[in-house]
Amino acid sequence: MHNIDIEVVEMTLDVMKYAISRITHSSPELGKPKSEEDLRELVGETITPEGIGGESAFGLFKDVLVKATVPIDHPRHLAFVPASPTRAAIMFDLVTSASSIHGAYWMEGAGGIFCENEAMKWLVSLTGLPKGAFGVFTSGGTAANLSAMVTARENWRKNPENRNVKALVITSEGAHSSIKSMAKVIDADVLLVETEDLMTADMLKAKIAGLDPAQRKRLFAVVATGGTTNAGIIDDLEGVAEVCAQEELWFHVDAAYGGGALASDSARHLFKGIEKADSITIDPHKWLFSPYDCGAVIYKNPELAKEAHEQEGSYLDIFKDEGARGFNPSDYQIQLTRRVRGLPLWFSLAMHGTDKYKWAVEEGIKLANLAGELIADHDDLELVREPSLSCVLFRRKGWSPDDYRSWTYKNHEEGFALVTPTKWKTQGTSETVARFCFINPHTTIEDIVAILQSME
Ligand SMILES: Cc1ncc(COP(=O)(O)O)c(C=O)c1O
Repeated sequence: MHNIDIEVVEMTLDVMKYAISRITHSSPELGKPKSEEDLRELVGETITPEGIGGESAFGLFKDVLVKATVPIDHPRHLAFVPASPTRAAIMFDLVTSASSIHGAYWMEGAGGIFCENEAMKWLVSLTGLPKGAFGVFTSGGTAANLSAMVTARENWRKNPENRNVKALVITSEGAHSSIKSMAKVIDADVLLVETEDLMTADMLKAKIAGLDPAQRKRLFAVVATGGTTNAGIIDDLEGVAEVCAQEELWFHVDAAYGGGALASDSARHLFKGIEKADSITIDPHKWLFSPYDCGAVIYKNPELAKEAHEQEGSYLDIFKDEGARGFNPSDYQIQLTRRVRGLPLWFSLAMHGTDKYKWAVEEGIKLANLAGELIADHDDLELVREPSLSCVLFRRKGWSPDDYRSWTYKNHEEGFALVTPTKWKTQGTSETVARFCFINPHTTIEDIVAILQSME
């Protein structure tokens, strides 16, 4: 199977043909899931001792399996945080795979890591962090948040009094679920500031003031959000930064989704204070048009990350000589062997330039504001809150949670759109509402109008 024969040549052509056709398709079929039993019945056994052949396996993928997936870049996929990788980035994802580069150590991956670092320099420049700040690409926001939390906790544990002490982190109810999940991974407790809206300095101060002395000793970090997943809300980063500085706490900003808006002129000011963070998560696979999977973690002081993450092993010693002459991404996050997953972003940035990124992010913000205006003018609809970044929460007057659910399934079943409901919590009560999240700059006003009409 490592030979180059006619079957490999034909398969390569078929794969390239498929890839070209897919990336030139601006509105791919909006697939929907089938049950595992149905899929098995349709494709049969694909893993056999003799193999079923490339043509046959690829045929099953194209004709059946990919149709049971939702293309994340469909212009009417406005659920969760969709994505819209550039065509250049997708093609370079193929090149990244074809080049078989190990992205852990400079000794093996220098040329690829150099490209990643060029893209990283741009990302870091968007944050305004001081000179010396730098980061690495991770598999996503969850891994970036975990890498940052490990760094923060290890730094805190340098104080012998904190060894063997269970750590405690404060974040808000609006924070992404991965913060709580990753706190479990590092066996830390989480305290939540009770708001889905923006966390202010006063709320944080009150939370800290409410801790008993033992809890206060365990507190090592605060996680603020730069664009909540549910509503695009940005915490008072400046205020939270000040409290963290006064209280000597690690200040992490999770801007996995919202971080793309740092590239925009219209929303950049909302992130004031992010330049004081100790660490920041930004996911290029969300709002910076990279294919999955590509997250990023950035540190004000990367040396602290290195102290926390560098791995030891006799087989790794060589990297301390040769590898020490360059940047080793594995030293700064949780993963050792890694794909050079920042390469697609680098190529797309190099090809298109940063101004086009600014434009594409602004389009998402404009679409959210436009949707907000259409909703405000509609008799049956009501904004739950003003659009924030590229998120819009709105209600259909008179609808129950079941109505929202049926509407979602109907649109999806018809292959028309994927728009899912969410919940919005204010003053202790939570309401089911509709939600848009815009990423694809090619979503049109007609798409939005048609989706709103489907609620009439
Ligand atoms: C704010 C925020 N943080 C973290 C994550 C987790 O990112 P990932 O799914 O890439 O692990 C998300 C995902 O939507 C997010 O919106």
